[in-house]
Amino acid sequence: MEVVITKDSLSASAKAADLVAKAVRSKPDSVLGLATGGTPLELYKRLINMHKNEGLDFSKVKTFNLDEYIGLKPEDRQSYNYFMRENFFSHVNIPDENINIPDGMTANIPSFCKEYEEKIKRAGGIDLQILGIGSDGHIGFNEPTSSLASRTRIKTLTQKTVCDNARFFGGDKSLVPLHVITMGIGTIMDAKTIVLLAFGKNKAEAVAKMIEGPITSMVPASALQFHPRTKVFIDRDASEKLVNTSYYDWVFERKPEWQKDI
Ligand code: PGA
Repeated sequence: MEVVITKDSLSASAKAADLVAKAVRSKPDSVLGLATGGTPLELYKRLINMHKNEGLDFSKVKTFNLDEYIGLKPEDRQSYNYFMRENFFSHVNIPDENINIPDGMTANIPSFCKEYEEKIKRAGGIDLQILGIGSDGHIGFNEPTSSLASRTRIKTLTQKTVCDNARFFGGDKSLVPLHVITMGIGTIMDAKTIVLLAFGKNKAEAVAKMIEGPITSMVPASALQFHPRTKVFIDRDASEKLVNTSYYDWVFERKPEWQKDI
């Protein structure tokens, strides 16, 4: 796991955007795994800018989103489908047929989830997966005690996540759907490269456990310690509970020239 601590969330997002752009330029038909929430917003803004001002071309890119609330329609403003169209898809040139988001209205959840996994496989697997992290250590919506081998399936949110996400529902916890469809931890671990972003003090404990704690399903993100190519971009606030901060800075400052942009 490469840990890069940046001075703020803007520079972390800029680094992540550069990585995505590089992936898309070197493999125009890249398969991207995408995340929602407050964390990747600046990353999407930067990618939109690169598309508009630098000709970054997404016309052959395929995308798979991590998760969706069960019971919300694509046109519901709180759905992740709506979020993605508002904040990214409607501003870039990814063909509609290349966009995949779990269907929160599906009549048959198990068969939808199986087909989602098959679709990822048929696309050749995810080249680059963007992740945030929940304050309870979740990735996607894989809450604590999720199987570290799990695949796309239904999950029930923890009360902590319901509270964290109530801000997207006008602060009303009772409006947050309790059930979701999420890629599993096994699905996420199959991605060739993972880029995880985390900002703010509210994430500091989860970040420390993910990077320096034991691998345990109680902290789903700790499974990433097994992933051969995970880059973690965090701001100073999110890094404040890490023990080895000065080592991560030391490593970053001394990266060999050839390693600097990979
Ligand atoms: P956030 O959510 O980006 O809104 O903090 C992250 C997550 O739950 O994965």
